[in-house]
Amino acid sequence: MKGVILAGGLGTRLYPLTHVTNKHLLPVYNKPMIFYPIQTLVNAGITEILIVTSGPHVGDFLGVLKNGKELGVSHLEYAYQEKPDGGIADALALAEDFADNDAIAVILGDNTTDADISSAVSSFIEGSVIFLKEVDDPKRFGVAYLDPVDKKTVVKIIEKPKDGLSNQAITGLYLFDRNVFNQIRKCDPDWAGRGELEITQVADFYLQEGKLKSEELKGFWSDAGTFDSLFQASSFWATKK
Ligand code: DAU
Repeated sequence: MKGVILAGGLGTRLYPLTHVTNKHLLPVYNKPMIFYPIQTLVNAGITEILIVTSGPHVGDFLGVLKNGKELGVSHLEYAYQEKPDGGIADALALAEDFADNDAIAVILGDNTTDADISSAVSSFIEGSVIFLKEVDDPKRFGVAYLDPVDKKTVVKIIEKPKDGLSNQAITGLYLFDRNVFNQIRKCDPDWAGRGELEITQVADFYLQEGKLKSEELKGFWSDAGTFDSLFQASSFWATKK
């Protein structure tokens, strides 16, 4: 399986830091943010990676990552998202040629985790797998509503819910089969009212086809796209033994 890291967007929530460089190159403790999702993929045996990025600082990636060899990446490609806030699924659409009709693991470039996803990767066959984590502030995330009896079964997913009835955040790690690019073509930018193509809607298409599975993400997980979460992620990695 190949891996895709989505590192577009404008990082407006981290102004003025993101006037200096791309959000995904800002430090999380002692490493640029994007090192963490790269490591998650490499640790799961995924060493062919595409980074989708955008915005005024795209050139900075090459200087930091070079060809990726220092991080254990065997093949590194870059793609440029022309509309930097087109949405996560708009960024993923650029991975179609790279995926070459195979399944892909996708990670948002501002997510850091010490979870090991290798068994989910090696046992993946078809459909989609999302990784869930219990959070205190579900309204900030895409959220899965689980069947009250069979707690592994997802019954509904919503991007940035207002009700707070489920605390199961959909983390920014996903496994998709080759059909994902057809699903993206069905996305409606108004689905979550943000004018973006939402990866959560892509997962919802799989849910409606009965092809969405969920797994609990074991270990630490945080995004790092706001000052509070950037601080939280840095604090975790500073103290991890
Ligand atoms: O962190 C997990 C959450 O990430 C999920 O729970 C949500 O379902 C998912 O929509 C996303 O929510 P955010 O509102 O935090 O997404 P954000 O706009 O911050 O984008 C997260 C990353 O996705 C960003 O670091 C780079 C990439 N991205 C985002 C956009 C909007 C792109 O590559 N292109 C884009 O156009």
